[in-house]
Amino acid sequence: MNNVTLVRKEPSESLFREDGLRLDGRGLDELRPIRMEVGVLNNADGSAYVEHGKNKIVAAVYGPRELHPKHLALPDKALVRCEYRMATFSVEERKSPAPGRREVELSKVIRESLEPAIFVYKYPRATIDVFVQILQADGGTRCASITAAALALADAGVPMRDLVVGCAVGKIEGKVAVDLSDVEDKLGEGDIPMALMPTKKVITLLQSDGDFTPEEFKQALEMGIAACEKIYEMQRDILIERYSKVREEVAEEQEEE
Ligand code: CDP
Repeated sequence: MNNVTLVRKEPSESLFREDGLRLDGRGLDELRPIRMEVGVLNNADGSAYVEHGKNKIVAAVYGPRELHPKHLALPDKALVRCEYRMATFSVEERKSPAPGRREVELSKVIRESLEPAIFVYKYPRATIDVFVQILQADGGTRCASITAAALALADAGVPMRDLVVGCAVGKIEGKVAVDLSDVEDKLGEGDIPMALMPTKKVITLLQSDGDFTPEEFKQALEMGIAACEKIYEMQRDILIERYSKVREEVAEEQEEE
């Protein structure tokens, strides 16, 4: 697959190449290249780094831990807090360092996508804090943030009923396509960001921007779920790899003792 994204300058040009593929060489149901790493930060309880296309995202998780200020505590479950922030250098036009309306909204959306997967009732009055930093944005950052944050939660050992995976599906020039890049997001006709708890088959995020016919929406959902399942395989593999290493390290330490 050719993963060089050609940035279109002229909105009048097509989002498809002459050979029918998308500008970055993908088919309609093809994901961008994805790379994941867990345990990338020393000072968080759990962390992950995800490259999804040209998106570069770090997620850090703290908790479950004592909540300050205490009056925010929930009597029956843990409070999940999420902070999504874009670095000033993450987008083409310098982003103001002050959190904007979009970041506040995406923080809420990401938190609501993750919470159904967490056993929050195990930790009354505690908090679980999720921080997401976008180092480089290329369309679909909320979805890739959900994938990264779920990995960081798992890395922190937060008890979860499932992982959570995010992926957007959209419409470009009348065709439903998965995982829109920045240029497709900006110039396409619609965007449906979604998140899935893959083994429970529960959708925890479904937004829609643009016009979709009922048939297109159904097709988008099916393609989105299939895309999320592919990303889930990668999440699972990277966590298995991480915990195999941890197990080896623990065994070595025990042998030395
Ligand atoms: O990132 P996501 O698609 O979840 O959210 P969006 O609000 O639909 O933003 C789409 C894309 O626009 C982002 O991924 C960035 O690449 C870009 N963007 C930007 O260029 N400047 C901003 N201040 C915010 C977003």
